[in-house]
Amino acid sequence: MTGGEVRILAPAKINLGLRVLGRRDDGYHDLLTLFQAISLCDRLTLRRRARGCRVVCPALPGLGSANLAHRAAEALLERTGTRGGVEILIEKRIPAGGGLGGGSSDAAATLLGCCRLLGIRPERGTLLEVAAGLGSDVPFFLEGGAAVGTGRGEILTLLPPWPGAATALVHIPPEGLSTAAVYGNLARGALTPARRPFTILLSRWREGDLRCLGDALFNDLEGPAFRLLPRLAAVKAALLRVGAAGALLCGSGSSVVGLFEEPRAARGAARALGGAFPGAFVSARFLGRRRRWGVVKR
Ligand code: C5P
Repeated sequence: MTGGEVRILAPAKINLGLRVLGRRDDGYHDLLTLFQAISLCDRLTLRRRARGCRVVCPALPGLGSANLAHRAAEALLERTGTRGGVEILIEKRIPAGGGLGGGSSDAAATLLGCCRLLGIRPERGTLLEVAAGLGSDVPFFLEGGAAVGTGRGEILTLLPPWPGAATALVHIPPEGLSTAAVYGNLARGALTPARRPFTILLSRWREGDLRCLGDALFNDLEGPAFRLLPRLAAVKAALLRVGAAGALLCGSGSSVVGLFEEPRAARGAARALGGAFPGAFVSARFLGRRRRWGVVKR
């Protein structure tokens, strides 16, 4: 038998490079991206129940069975033929619509938490398949740390951790952006098969100099996201002006991240910019792989 409660963290991610390679037949786009997990986290508590799955999220009271964490629990129980049920309490810190992967991370944490709570030991491949069926970013959050994602982002090559110092200052605007709207707003002819900038990004990653990494950051979704919400371009420029080594849109937005070497510099930048833009500035650390921060507690 297993214990009655599991607590698990669900971190946000930023994308330090995001190349949109082309449209696919399934309506999605092929990507080449560099994910980095950060210490801005939702907190999940999972408890056993006799049957059925239930999600409680005080910050989003309307959350129903279409929610990704709910679907994650159901998919895992069905795929592994597990009896019993689970209640999932989600304490949200990661905003929805920010491009920070909160929903996907909650789903991955649910999969890992259910395994621990209910004593399920699926093959790694099975877990990855269930995760990929839920959403493109979910497999990354099973691992955390840093990784290159291809396909829709679900095919992963794990990277060694960033070797230098880094603090991410994330701007969370009051309004989110719809992923579908941002991809739908990609200009014709904007798709760039060139992989060179990505190779440069990866070699800078290995070198560990944040200023050099900052110069190599790119996100093909900035154009369409900035056209939808022009203020985001001003946030990016302001982050660079107050000393960020690099700044860019997170995923499909609406969050924008600036990278600083020291937490103190990030806090100073947050103070300098706080009054200038609506929304919040949150500083966060780069996180290593899940097994290094021991997230599952019983
Ligand atoms: O991943 P998610 O289902 O939230 O994506 C919402 C929409 O964004 C998709 O239906 C698709 O239109 C677009 N999208 C895309 N290529 C991706 C990810 C999302 O075109 N790699």
